Amino acid sequence: MKLIKKLTLENDDLIIVWQDGKQSQLFSHWLRDHCQMPVSRNENNGQRLFSIIDIRKDLYIEEVTQDSEGNVCILFQPENHLSVFSQDWLRKNCYDLNNHFDDRSEKNKKLWQKNTFNDGVPKISYNYFHQNIEGKLQVLCSIRDMGFCIIKDAPTKEGQVLAVIKELGFTRETNYGKLFEVRTEVNPNNLAYTNMGLGSHTDNPYRDPVPTVQLLHCLESSTEGGDSVLVDGFNAAKILRQESSDNFLTLTKNWINFRFKDEETDLRSRVPMIEVNDNNEVIKVRYNNRSIDTINLPAVKIRSFYSAYRHWGEVIERDQLKITFQLLPGEIILFDNTRVMHARTAFSKKGKRHLQGAYADLDGLYSLLNILQSKQ
Ligand SMILES: [Fe+2]
Repeated sequence: MKLIKKLTLENDDLIIVWQDGKQSQLFSHWLRDHCQMPVSRNENNGQRLFSIIDIRKDLYIEEVTQDSEGNVCILFQPENHLSVFSQDWLRKNCYDLNNHFDDRSEKNKKLWQKNTFNDGVPKISYNYFHQNIEGKLQVLCSIRDMGFCIIKDAPTKEGQVLAVIKELGFTRETNYGKLFEVRTEVNPNNLAYTNMGLGSHTDNPYRDPVPTVQLLHCLESSTEGGDSVLVDGFNAAKILRQESSDNFLTLTKNWINFRFKDEETDLRSRVPMIEVNDNNEVIKVRYNNRSIDTINLPAVKIRSFYSAYRHWGEVIERDQLKITFQLLPGEIILFDNTRVMHARTAFSKKGKRHLQGAYADLDGLYSLLNILQSKQ
């Protein structure tokens, strides 16, 4: 294996010219910090055994050579420390030729809108998911790439939603318990549950951290209406940014408070409606008109905030962004609550509608996805 064509030292950088003509310029302190030798890394778990302040400020590379296997040997002074890097490691890790790992931002998602699913919303059968690694991979990849997945033909038994989470990650227990009931048996004695439609929203923005995955399992549905609606919030944010970069910026820069309060609970958060990463890519969206707390901004910002907020709300409610479908008994929808907004249309007062919901988190799901993919 010979990936490297030429090695040279230039000031405090190691310059690597690769066989394919590409070039890397690696800073001496980065190389020392990423030393792979047993004195620098635990041999079993690969974890670093020193911190940045253990690296001398006056560090420099005295010499770079290659051993008989082509490994790159770097002698650091004044500590007289030898680091040996494989060519393969350097190529896979050199920072100017590789993108950072990122499974959260808009850049690595497949954005969608209504006409993306002209042929129908894809569904994965419960047995295929439950019995096969490929089925689990399909569910996990769909959640990562599209932000949601529908499992069909699951047992219509209570608590099934928790069994599904257990196969993928971990339940996020909240003040609503491990699971919550969305039971709308129309009954004058039970006015807590209505048949009203609900606008597009993300759940629980008043929690910090917010639950990043939501599951809804339909156990019974004999009402008319009550369709489920999903909107790709990352696509909505992209459209907002295309139509007005000022409005987009306003919602990323002006954080607001969300709140949920009942007798036993008082949850508060201060977060932006659109959150971006260090590359200005969208990583999280929030929208929930029901739980926005008092909006408290400097007077000079309030008008621009309201025009951005209105614009955001209008984009989210555009029909061409919405997919609408009926969640049937035995179907479980799983979605990324940091990306996908959900809504419900109004439904008739006749019949029963019973869903069970629960929360989980993306880190557990993505961890399983990474492990399953690494075994393939
Ligand atoms: Fe909701």
